[in-house]
Amino acid sequence: MATSDRLDQLRQRSAPLDMSPREFREVGHLVVDRIAELLESLPDRPVTPAETPGTIREAMRASSQLPEDGIDAGALLDETTKLLFDHSLFNGHPRFLGYITSAPAPIGMLGDLLAAAVNPNVGAWPMAPMATEIEAQTVRWIAELIGYPVDSGGILVSGGNLANIVCFLTARAKKASWDLQSHGLDANPSGPLRVYASTEVHTWINKAMDISGLGTASLRWIQVDEESRMDLAALKAQLDKDAADGDQPFLVVGTASTVSTGAIDPLAEIASLCRERDLWFHVDGAYGAFAAAVPEAAELLVGMSEADSVAVDPHKWLYAPLEAGCALVRDPEALRSAFAHGAPYYHFGEMATNYFEYGLQNSRGFRALKVWLALRQVGRSGYVQMIRDDIDLAKALFDLLADYPEIEPMSQNLSITTFRYIPEDLLDRAETDPVRTYLDELNQEILARIERSGEIYLSNAIIQGRFALRICVVNFRTSLEDIEAFPEIVQRLGREAHRELRPDDWS
Ligand SMILES: Cc1ncc(COP(=O)(O)O)c(C=O)c1O
Repeated sequence: MATSDRLDQLRQRSAPLDMSPREFREVGHLVVDRIAELLESLPDRPVTPAETPGTIREAMRASSQLPEDGIDAGALLDETTKLLFDHSLFNGHPRFLGYITSAPAPIGMLGDLLAAAVNPNVGAWPMAPMATEIEAQTVRWIAELIGYPVDSGGILVSGGNLANIVCFLTARAKKASWDLQSHGLDANPSGPLRVYASTEVHTWINKAMDISGLGTASLRWIQVDEESRMDLAALKAQLDKDAADGDQPFLVVGTASTVSTGAIDPLAEIASLCRERDLWFHVDGAYGAFAAAVPEAAELLVGMSEADSVAVDPHKWLYAPLEAGCALVRDPEALRSAFAHGAPYYHFGEMATNYFEYGLQNSRGFRALKVWLALRQVGRSGYVQMIRDDIDLAKALFDLLADYPEIEPMSQNLSITTFRYIPEDLLDRAETDPVRTYLDELNQEILARIERSGEIYLSNAIIQGRFALRICVVNFRTSLEDIEAFPEIVQRLGREAHRELRPDDWS
């Protein structure tokens, strides 16, 4: 039984985690000021401090114990901004062109703060009335932007992996010839289900094959042509063979565009083949789908709008701060019935969208707000301008490489350009052994040196067995001046690495 003192305490409860509006305003302003300073100073900072895990752990005292008592929130946030700003890689830096991780839109940063302040649980409409409708509108706008039917079903998820997996599971539920959701794979009355994707497909497919119970061995890897696009004849041959063996092909995955070189599969041809054979056609457009908004790039993506489902990533080419992926499914009921199990303890009414029935999550955060705000802030025309600029900058780099005899341009698609450094003395024997192997090692070393330098940031791709350097521009802060710095730096660090690594016994 509580004493009356204890009851008094509870009546005037003071929670250590709460803040007075005054304190919140004070520390909130401090954080916003620090972020503004960061944005201002980004171009002068290294893209990454390239520190070791040990250095980072020491800086944040990783081995210290859980504090018994708390500290002042202002001092804590001040210290934390310093820790983060001094020891992070900045994908918002104008010279970050490494992975397909975009510079975060400032309005998205504020959107996340606002979303957390309201904290709606966007699993069910009554718990998130405005947030649910904002998500529904965001999904419609994303479909509209890429030319996909606006009456499709859709849901925001954590990123490309999950967006693809949601579409994959929808395809599996819809296309299985038996009630797979109730009885599982053991009840399959005929041959095994088969999935088709090119050898360039992103690794989400392995996870999807695994967690769906199909197993990675049920994935048919279709070879690609010299442009890294799915070979249609090979796809047809594999489909014919499997059908003759009594297997059940049900899903073909087209990629638009691939993570390493930005290649786009022949979507229109795959779409008509899938229609002919009654297969589900899914497009992984995690990165490339948004290029469909740009009129001169849209023709590369013809056929995507015919897909049964498309995965797109607002945290890639819509510049949303992580995390935001989006699964779009042409038939909204197919999406719902793949995930709705009509749990009797949820009675949220039928007219409203309850997003827990459209995907894997139950409780869900308000991811849509940052995406919706950015779409409203700049509109379609703003996105067309930014995506077009990114593409043109990647092309500009490709063209610029012609002035650098020691740099071999290798591929250019959308905003991805690949190339490699070949020292002058090895130019005429780049394809002979052991030079070929040496060039792979040399370019790996150049990549490591670039990262350590902090001057620019790029990543790599393997192109026809060769190690290539790769830039991907999904960064609205990058200008031509930044792009022009890349070949100079690659050449300088390439020469330096070659001087140190070149075997002494080579002529
Ligand atoms: C084509 C493609 N699909 C899927 C993904 C995975 O996306 P995420 O990292 O958001 O899960 C990526 C990531 O770069 C990608 O480029």
